[in-house]
Amino acid sequence: MELAIEGRAAVWSSEEWVAYFGANAKRLLNIPWELEAGLTPEELAMVAASLPAWQLGETSDGAHLFAAARKYAEANNDPAFVEAVRLFIHEEHRHGSQLGRFLDLAGIPRRTWYWGDTLFRQFRRLFTRIEMSASIVVMVEIHALLYYGAIRRGTGSLVLRRVCQQILRDEIPHIRFQCERLAMLHRRRPRILRMLTLLSHRMMFAGITLAIWVGHRRALHAGGFTFGRFWRTAWSKMGHTWRTMDPRAYRWPEAELRPVAE
Ligand SMILES: [Fe+2]
Ligand SMILES: [Fe+2]
Repeated sequence: MELAIEGRAAVWSSEEWVAYFGANAKRLLNIPWELEAGLTPEELAMVAASLPAWQLGETSDGAHLFAAARKYAEANNDPAFVEAVRLFIHEEHRHGSQLGRFLDLAGIPRRTWYWGDTLFRQFRRLFTRIEMSASIVVMVEIHALLYYGAIRRGTGSLVLRRVCQQILRDEIPHIRFQCERLAMLHRRRPRILRMLTLLSHRMMFAGITLAIWVGHRRALHAGGFTFGRFWRTAWSKMGHTWRTMDPRAYRWPEAELRPVAE
């Protein structure tokens, strides 16, 4: 699935997303758990300094997002959306459990608290609408693409490289899933309000990008990022993502012409 949309695409229905997540669960990469962790001492220090925080983030229980999805599904008579979000959260938990298994294999202690994770959870709790949850999730997922890509380049561990590869495969559709829903929500928003929404996104994205650089620069460095390159890559990927959540990128079926409630 491509992140950028060529021409006008149709949004997938919630039922189609449920089918996608079901099919994806049946074609997972084989992870060679029988091998050792295979980290050099430098890689071990680099991974131990940041991977436990990402592992913790992936295990977030999703209760807040799930509650927002329920509210949205009820208001829009789209019960399958709740199931699609449940399957989405399930994939995130799979990432968390595979990363946790790798940490155990490498003898790296798991974390139960990380400032970035707490900040992220508190921030999401302030907002009960699906729009805000989906917007923040999508921004963190853009950074996940950069981070797991950097870890994959920065280590020779076959196990960790395969775990990262699986996560990267899952994240592109995750971003698309959130973007389609955001495009639906932004559809009838007047142009000026859409511009203000994007302005608030830009401010949030700048904050998240800086926070992730501060917390994970060692691993990002190991994967070939300087701050400048990280900043430019993050904004370029987010630029594609903003185009993917632009309602004008989609063909809307007649049935979708009813108002969308948040
Ligand atoms: Fe994930
Ligand atoms: Fe994700």
